[in-house]
Formats: sequence, C-alpha cells, structure tokens
Amino acid sequence: MTATPSGNKKAPIQTVAWSFGKVRLIDQTALPDRIEFIEYSSWRDVVEAIRTMVVRGAPAIGCTAALGMALGARSIIAESREAFKARFTEMADAFRGSRPTAVNLFWAIDRMMEIVDTLPGNTIDLKDAIVDEALRMLDEDIETNRRMGRFGADLLPDEGAVLTHCNAGALATVGYGTALGVIRAAVEAGKTIKVYADETRPRLQGMKLTGWELAQDGIDVTVIADNMSGMLMRRGDIDCVVVGADRIASNGDTANKIGTYNVAVLAAHHGIPFYVAAPYSTIDFALETGEEIPIEERDHEEMTHINGHRIMPEGVPTMNPSFDVTPHDLVTAFITERGIIYPPFKQNLKQEEETEESGAAQIEGAKPHLALSN
Ligand code: MRU
Repeated sequence: MTATPSGNKKAPIQTVAWSFGKVRLIDQTALPDRIEFIEYSSWRDVVEAIRTMVVRGAPAIGCTAALGMALGARSIIAESREAFKARFTEMADAFRGSRPTAVNLFWAIDRMMEIVDTLPGNTIDLKDAIVDEALRMLDEDIETNRRMGRFGADLLPDEGAVLTHCNAGALATVGYGTALGVIRAAVEAGKTIKVYADETRPRLQGMKLTGWELAQDGIDVTVIADNMSGMLMRRGDIDCVVVGADRIASNGDTANKIGTYNVAVLAAHHGIPFYVAAPYSTIDFALETGEEIPIEERDHEEMTHINGHRIMPEGVPTMNPSFDVTPHDLVTAFITERGIIYPPFKQNLKQEEETEESGAAQIEGAKPHLALSN
C-alpha cells in the first residue's frame, strides 16, 4: 500500500482506478486538506479501505469491490476451477462484510461471481475475464452518470438553487456523480445553478467532499449546517432538492445518508420537488419496502469526535445510524440512466427494468478506459 500526493489540484477527479495491476483510490479521509492517492496491491487492504471509508458512496464502493476482487483473483494460485472458486468466494464474502447498506456493493460482487459461474476456460482465462469485467463496470459507471445527468438537467431550473445532502458526486462514483452529475450536466447545458450543500453530520461529507468537488469545478456552492435548510426553504431560496441513494426498495422507499428524510419532509411541506438520482444498480427489487433495508450503525466516535478531537462530554450516550429511509411518497421522481421515473414507483420502476431497450443494454459494449495500465 503506497500513498502519493497529487500536484495537480485541477485535474478531473479520478476516484477509483486500476493502475499497473493495483487498485488506486483517492483518499477521501484526507480531503479537503490533502489530495492523496493510495495504491493497493492486497485485496484485504481494499476491503479495509471500504470499511474505513477511504472510498465511500454507493457506486464507488461497488466498483472498488469489483477491482479489489480482480486484484484478489490475480493472486489466487489454484490447480482447479473449483479451488479457484472456493478462494474467490471467500474474497467475495469479505467484501460483502465491508458495509451493509449500499446495494451497489452486493450487485458488483454478484456480477464478479457470475463470471466464475458462467465463463468457460481455465483459471488464467478466468482471471483475465474478471479484470475485464471490473474495468467494464468502471466505464459503465461514468456512462450511466452522464446519461442520468442528461435526463436530470432538464428538471433543474435556470437561475435557480438546488439543495443536496451528503456527497453523491464524482467522489461517490467512478466519476461525474449521480446527484452532482445532474447539477454538472445542467451547468454544462448553460443553466445558472446555485448549490446549497448540507454539511452532513457526523462525517461531514457535504462540507468536506461536496463543497470541495464543486468548488474544484467552479460551480457556485454554499455549504450550510444541516439545520439551516428549513429556513432557506421557507424563505423561497431553494427550488428543488437532488440527492443520491444507497438502496431503493421496489416501492421507491429510498435509503440515503442520515438526514435525507428530514430534508424530504421539509421539501414536501414547502411544495419543493425532491429528486433522487441513482442508477438502476441501486434498486433492490428483492425488497418490497424500505423497512427491509439494513441500516449501518457506525462507530460512535464519528459523533463524539471531529478530526480526532473530542467534542462531546464523556459518558453521554449517543447513537450513529449512518442512513435513513425516505418513504416513496416524499419522492417526486427518480432520475435514472433509463429516464425519469414518476409515481406509481412500484409499477414504473419495474416496468422500466423490464423494458428491452434499456440504457444498460446500450452501454453494455462500452470499452474500459480507466485502466492506467494492465
Ligand atoms: O456513508 P457514505 O459516505 O458512503 O454515504 C454516501 C451517501 O449516502 C450517498 O448519498 C449515496 O451513496 C449516493 S452516492 C452516488
């Protein structure tokens, strides 16, 4: 594992990459103080990077797990396919245990396992196919985000203000972002957009990451404390809300960063549209409602400390659920790579999933471009 600082502060953000047979991540725990990249040559270290949130954000952790499994596959010495699969399954299980809520993680791992289950050939062929599949996923992620951006840009007002929560940007994906991708696309289309970013306690992804990445791109962003959005909405300062998602149940109930539900309730009260931008890989059709979504409870030190400094009195209990579920009736529409999905969500999300002419089919043949080298 090696860390390198980046000299170029204005380079496009490359959150996750495959670099000369290693997994390369921007260290999100160091931002915005330092722009550092870490290269991983051990798959176990990649599991740890997801767990400790060196990389975070639903699509980013899915793609990182895929690359980590590619790294792991290359390290397997096995005399038979069966032995290879047994070892690869152990790796998959370790990645499954890294974080519980974002379904993209499990979607990506299943996709990697499917290669082993379906592809003929020897273990060398398998290793190559696994690396190729992981790289294809990286490429698809950016393409998916750009498609979402193009659909979503039309929904944003010109000369208007958008509120977002947490970070659903380039840093939460391979690049471009979901919610922030929609904002980027609207700005690229010539719209003047002001962004309000909730700071997002306790880990401050909104302040540290959304504030940083939008400022890097020259997009007008103001970071607010989480308890300010009600006042701004009441004053008429916010035209719409766009957030990302970690898992969406069949009926449209949406898990996203803790505090998203508060924002959705406020938006509904003030008659402000509340959009969720997410790829289809974030929808968990196995779940009927959001009640079934596992909610991660993280270390309470995230509440009691900021940057290693204790801010809470000793001995006072706290809690730290990392996500909440916004009920589907508070969501105006989903912005997906297949188009804008309006209610009734249970019917319309599934119908689009089953449509043959899907966006996913169109990007299936995309060539990987994010490998810096094999
Ligand atoms: O705990 P995190 O930082 O991984 O949570 C991230 C979020 O909640 C994002 O909003 C979500 O993953 C959407 S990312 C495109």
